Amino acid sequence: MSEPQHKELLDVMATDSNLQNYEDAYATFDWKDVEQEFSWNTTGNVNAAYEAIDRHVENGRGDDIALYYSDPVRDESYTFAELKALSNKFGNVLKKYGVNKGDRVFIFMPRSPELYAALLGAVKIGAIVGPLFEAFMEGAVRDRLEDAEAVAIITTPKLKDRVPVAALPALKHVFLVGAEGELAAHEVDFQQEMDAASDLLEITWVDREDGLVLHYTSGSTGKPKGVLHVHNAMIQYYQTAKWILDLKRGDVYWCTADPGWVTGTAYGIWGPWLHGVTNVIRGGRFSPDDWYNTLQRYNVSVWYSAPTAFRMLMGAGDDLVKKYDLSSVRHILSVGEPLNAEVVRWGMKVYGKRIHDNWWMTETGGQMISNYPSLPLKPGSMGKPFPGIYAAIVDDAGNELPANSMGNLAIRAPWPSMMRRIWNNPAKYEEYFRLQPWYISGDSAYKDEDGYFWFQGRIDDVINTSGERVGPFEVESKLVEHPAIAEAGVIGKPDPLRGEIIKAFIALREGYEPSEALIEEIRDFVKKGLAAHAAPREIEFRDKLPKTRSGKIMRRVLKAWELGLPTGDLSTMED
Ligand code: WT7
Repeated sequence: MSEPQHKELLDVMATDSNLQNYEDAYATFDWKDVEQEFSWNTTGNVNAAYEAIDRHVENGRGDDIALYYSDPVRDESYTFAELKALSNKFGNVLKKYGVNKGDRVFIFMPRSPELYAALLGAVKIGAIVGPLFEAFMEGAVRDRLEDAEAVAIITTPKLKDRVPVAALPALKHVFLVGAEGELAAHEVDFQQEMDAASDLLEITWVDREDGLVLHYTSGSTGKPKGVLHVHNAMIQYYQTAKWILDLKRGDVYWCTADPGWVTGTAYGIWGPWLHGVTNVIRGGRFSPDDWYNTLQRYNVSVWYSAPTAFRMLMGAGDDLVKKYDLSSVRHILSVGEPLNAEVVRWGMKVYGKRIHDNWWMTETGGQMISNYPSLPLKPGSMGKPFPGIYAAIVDDAGNELPANSMGNLAIRAPWPSMMRRIWNNPAKYEEYFRLQPWYISGDSAYKDEDGYFWFQGRIDDVINTSGERVGPFEVESKLVEHPAIAEAGVIGKPDPLRGEIIKAFIALREGYEPSEALIEEIRDFVKKGLAAHAAPREIEFRDKLPKTRSGKIMRRVLKAWELGLPTGDLSTMED
């Protein structure tokens, strides 16, 4: 175990936060207490989109701003009443095209008001939404739509070429936002349909255990897995948004994550809107100036982002911060990868605020371990388990380990936002729960004597680059499709800015020679075939790669090479 450095305390606490006494809450809280916050508790009617949007309109808050949207060309705002109407319209459009409850509807486009209206509309008719990050290329899009048997996709003319309709027999409709000119048989002009649709919709009431959203995520082997979340998750979205995001009436909240990742739905849609809070959505690329300008211009009070972004802002310098009035910012949070203690200290210095790290995963659906505004914070720690969540460090047999021992980070199942299924893969699902009563996260960590959790690393080979999870197998499979490549092994290499970068070790086929041009070509091949963020930043050629006798690339040996560490037990390696 690494030497515990957990004595440093940042004890500038908020006195007015929603969670005043963590210990009390931890001892007494029951998820059942949250149910009274929802209208289904009295009506019996369940639908997350109704709770997030329509309920506020019915409670006389229809004119409050739900969404501020800006990108380099658009600058708009939408009230809850307007979002209700737009999502109703899209619900009617989907119904007109025969989309039913339980059908998978994918959304593949850059952040825009249309994306949010479409997502909410699909949920309102009981469809299961599959949001895809806009950077995905054809191979990645195809794998996901195929696995989910998606019946419809909402996309743009620019992205539609990456949707291989002919190869996807279940896919019936391609809705084009910004459609122009001639449309193919399966294509539908989104705006034309929206204009014609009624803004009155009969919402499809669902069971709390019915599917809400499907997020694909990478493991160390196999294709990406479809993690299914259900409407019941809103119990956890609501309560964590109250006590971790600390959202209050009147807040302006900005989550920088794209809905293609779980943070962008759980806390980019449900968390804020279940609380009726104004949500800031910014399109376009990262730029320190634009980000600070966004905070200033909307008077953002709660800001949720990721370590890579904070590290880039740190790199942009302290003077830049002084050019902006960031006094509206009350609470800052981070998720996705380890938040360095140094970044927390820097945040204290330049923002005068603590950055609150929290830990969770696509599979957990909602936040599990966090720092809280009312608790002392230990820079470098992920914080403490949420009330209602029991987190532990266990050995490989599921025995709980004492304080300061490193082991598997585990959560006692179940909890409200827990994934309910891996799409088409029940065996994979069971693997997470193999050590009853635990959910095994795949992360290693330890808990200190004060109950704070400290992240140590992944147990499997999954790579976390700038907070995005990349499965080495997916990248390796793409690499060996390239005609020059015989074998490929992919690892995460530690990187000060991105946490990890993707490094590929490659053995070439006969007749090919290493060259800069080939490196570029290979990188481009992965970018075009998979996604830009999955392309190896570093490529190293080797005559041969270390493999087991059964032919599996030994990534741990590659990693040891890379880090100059001993390679450990090589008994399973081929000669
Ligand atoms: C993996 C989950 C749900 C958040 C977005 C990422 C790593 C997540 C932290 C943290 C250190 C973290 C873990 C986890 N991770 N949060 N605060 N400190 N590592 O979701 O893509 O499903 O990835 O991200 O390794 O298992 P994801």
